[in-house]
Formats: sequence, structure tokens, C-alpha cells
Amino acid sequence: MPEDAVATFTATAGDGASNPLRAGLPAEQIASPCSIVFFGASGDLFKRMLLPAVYSMRLNGTLPADFALVGFARSKYTDDDFREYCRRQLELFMPDDGKPQGPLWDDFARRIGYITADFNDTRHFVDLKNKLAQNDRDFGTAGNHLFYLSTPPPVFPEIIKHLKSAGLEKDERGWTRIVVEKPFGTDLASARTLQRAIEAVFPENEIYRIDHYHGKEPVQDIIALRFANTIFEPIWNRNYVQNVQITSAESLGVEERGGYYDHAGALRDMIQNHVINLLALVAMEPPISSNADDIREEKYKVLSAIEPPAHAGVWSTSARGQYGPGTIDGSSVKGYRQEKDVAPDSNTETFAAVKLYVENWRWAGVPFYLRSGKRLPRKVSEIAVTFKPIPHRFYGESTDRIESNVLVIKIEPDEGISMRFEAKVPGPKDHVRSVYMDFNYGSGFGVQSPPAYERLIGDAMLGDQTLFTRWDAVERAWEIVTPILEVWQNTKDFSFPNYAAGSQGPDSAKALFADWRHL
Ligand code: BG6
Repeated sequence: MPEDAVATFTATAGDGASNPLRAGLPAEQIASPCSIVFFGASGDLFKRMLLPAVYSMRLNGTLPADFALVGFARSKYTDDDFREYCRRQLELFMPDDGKPQGPLWDDFARRIGYITADFNDTRHFVDLKNKLAQNDRDFGTAGNHLFYLSTPPPVFPEIIKHLKSAGLEKDERGWTRIVVEKPFGTDLASARTLQRAIEAVFPENEIYRIDHYHGKEPVQDIIALRFANTIFEPIWNRNYVQNVQITSAESLGVEERGGYYDHAGALRDMIQNHVINLLALVAMEPPISSNADDIREEKYKVLSAIEPPAHAGVWSTSARGQYGPGTIDGSSVKGYRQEKDVAPDSNTETFAAVKLYVENWRWAGVPFYLRSGKRLPRKVSEIAVTFKPIPHRFYGESTDRIESNVLVIKIEPDEGISMRFEAKVPGPKDHVRSVYMDFNYGSGFGVQSPPAYERLIGDAMLGDQTLFTRWDAVERAWEIVTPILEVWQNTKDFSFPNYAAGSQGPDSAKALFADWRHL
């Protein structure tokens, strides 16, 4: 148990009785008292994800009783205005059974405070210091402070600098931690600059670089699948695996985020962080223990084994696309260049596909195909491990195709594991068809997976860094994508837009790899 865990509670007898898979499960952990400060609390992420995650922790009993929340942002609010703002957002973004009401909400609301701030003015950080001291007195938050950076990234260095100048970088009475939202830099150089700014103030064991994919249950389960079973690991290597495909596809476009996205693109927005982190989990060696650093060390090591493509090799190992107008779920949608805050001649990719090799003993010669894109036919995140074909065929009718086995780790929207294998069709002939063994988390364990941010905020409060990305892995991921970024940035793609919204993506992706799984 992390040392900050001060309490536990067990699943009710009813849970265990109604679902034997959960019977006798160890208790959840509750962190020590603390104040959490959200920088950028008037932004989109706070209202849609962070605030609902914290409130939901209150509802399910995983938030410490001695707790306070401080919003710190440019918009002008008094404490009361901000409480009302939070109430309205929770009305909008919490499910029906979690709306803010009754004594639980009243108690939560009185612990909410706000500071209208200029991020570049130390005085507002001194105000914050006073507020945190007041929280310690009023709400027993014991000098423990979690700072959550959810502003646009260019503001991160200012915040860090002023936390130090206001003397907030540590409090002798308790712990101080800083959660850093993605993107961690916009390229290798800016990531290094940001890292230098952070490490000048906070040691690595206080820095929590968030990648919300790590908080998704099926992503956490990759380690269990691989290392709590014996049957997968012996075949998890070049001898049996033909290729690994990692997909993170969305049917949504850029929504209101054109301004950010047009400077980012799919490679920076998704591949450099979420998708490469999935690759690390699926390809890493068994850690020597479940300690955060033992796991993070293996993730770093496997990323180090990936050779970034040479500039000259970028076109043969990657494909990019940009969506034009099209149809999704029967509705017409506009093209990327017509989206709000996007340049009408934008060269930004909304689809990226990359082929990488992990150059080590286990994976030599096995291609890892990564792809991510917006305005694809449906939302799906998954890892598909395709095994080699049978070595010799003697069974099945001659017209039957004998498919390779595929193990799919489904991350969203379905959460589960599916294994494709071949089976005989009942009847007098020897026909063979593909069938599936499916495990689904929801029906298997009889519980909804908690939202990713809830888990991650809880872990940061507990001082558990396992699901947060260590600096060396962030840096390595930037090193891997940098040649591709550079070549793409410097080469205008005159074929853009090159895939219709709602299609399978650009033809160039098919040229990179013919066997992408159908979306
Ligand atoms: C974010 C990206 O990190 O992840 C977004 O910035 C993307 O562009 C989102 O839409 C996808 O997250 P999820 O959890 O919906 O798969």
C-alpha cells in the first residue's frame, strides 16, 4: 500500500455475493488529507473531466474526508461564484445518479475556493499560499498539496517559477506533488526545456506526468494479462507474433479545439504519448516487481530499443492524412480545413500511421503498426496481436481461408479481450471458420470501470507514480517521432484532404500496411 494511504474500505458483501469474481477483493485506498489546486480551472478539461472525477471520488468514498479544492485561473470568480460554476458543470457532466445535491454536495461545496489570477504575478501565488494555509486550519488538509497544471502548456513554466517564488514548492508539514497535463512540450527541444524548468523546482518523485490512457482499466490490465498468466508470455515474441497493430481512432473531429490542434496534429496529439505508451506496455519485458520504478524502467528500456526512423526513411515508415468532408453515422460533416480556428490551407495531419521495430531479442523483425486519426468511422482503441499463420495446412475444405489467430485488447468503447481462432463448422464437411472467445470487463466483473482521471488523481494523492510517465520515457517518445515530425512539417502535402470523413483513412496508410483492421 502506498505510504500515503490512510484508510481502506471493502467492497460490500452484496458485491461479492452477486459477483463471485469480486468477492473478497482487497479494499480501496484513501489518500491522506490534502488540498488540490487546479491551475486553469475555468478551462474545458477541468469542467468535463477533472471536477467530475474529484466529485465522483467523493461520492464513492475514495476522497479523503479532510479535503479542499482550489481553482486558480484568469476568469473572474469569487469563491461563491466558483462553487456555483462547479455545481452547474457537475449538473451537466455527472451521470444522473451523481448530480450535486444534498449534504454530500454541501460539504464538498464549502471546501471549494478560487483565486482569480494572473499566472505571471507572484502576488497571486502568495494569495494561494495563504488560502492553502487557511485550508489546513479549516479543513485539516495537513500541509499536503497537489498542484494540477491543466492550463495551456505555454503557461506551465510561469506557474512553476511562481510556485517557487511564493515558497510553495514544499511545505515542511506535508507532501507537495505536481501533476502535469499533456502535451509535455510540443517537440523534443521544448519538452527538454519544460523538463529543466520543472526539475529546477521539483524532484522527479514529486512530478506526475499524466497520460489519461494509463488510467483506463483495460490499459492497466495489459500487465495482468501478460504477467498474471502463463499461457501468453511464451508466445509473446518474434517466434509467434506476426505483427502488432495499435489503433486509436475517433469519429469526432477537432470540435472546439482547432486552435490547439492545428499546431499539434495527430502525431503529437496521440501517437507521441498515448499510442507509444500502449506500445511500451505491450512490448516491455517483465518488471522485477510491481514498484512504480521497476515498471517504468522496463517501459523506458523498450522505448530505448526503438530506433527512430532516419529522415530519408520517413516516407516508407509513416503515412499521414487529413480529413475532407464526408459522412459519419449518416450525417454530413465538414472537412478539417473548414473547422473553426483551422487554417484554410492547413498542412496539419488528422491521421497518422507509423511502422516501428523494437530492436531487441524478443521482437526483432516484428513490425508494430500504430495509427490514430480523427473522423474515422467509429471510436475504437485497441491493441491487436496477430500471430503467425499455421506452418502446414492439411485440414479444412480447399475453399476455406485459414486465418491467423488474433488477440485483441479492447480499450474502448468495448473494454475486454477477444481471441480469434479457427473452428470446425458443425456438419459433415470439414469447413473451418473464425470464431471468438470474448471477455468483457463490464459483464465479467459486474462493475463499470472508473473513469481514467478518477484513478489517476487518486493515485497522485496516494503518491503512486506507476501510471504516470517518467521523464526518460517522455523524452524517448519525442526522440522516436521527431524525424517524422520534422519531415512532415517541412513538406507540404498537396493531396490534403486525402481521406473523406467516415472512411478508413488515407490510401497511403494502406500502402504502409495492407492488413489494417477494419474500423
Ligand atoms: C486527448 C487528445 O489526449 O485524447 C484528444 O488530445 C483526443 O484529441 C483524446 O480526442 C482521446 O481520448 P479518449 O479518452 O476519448 O480516447
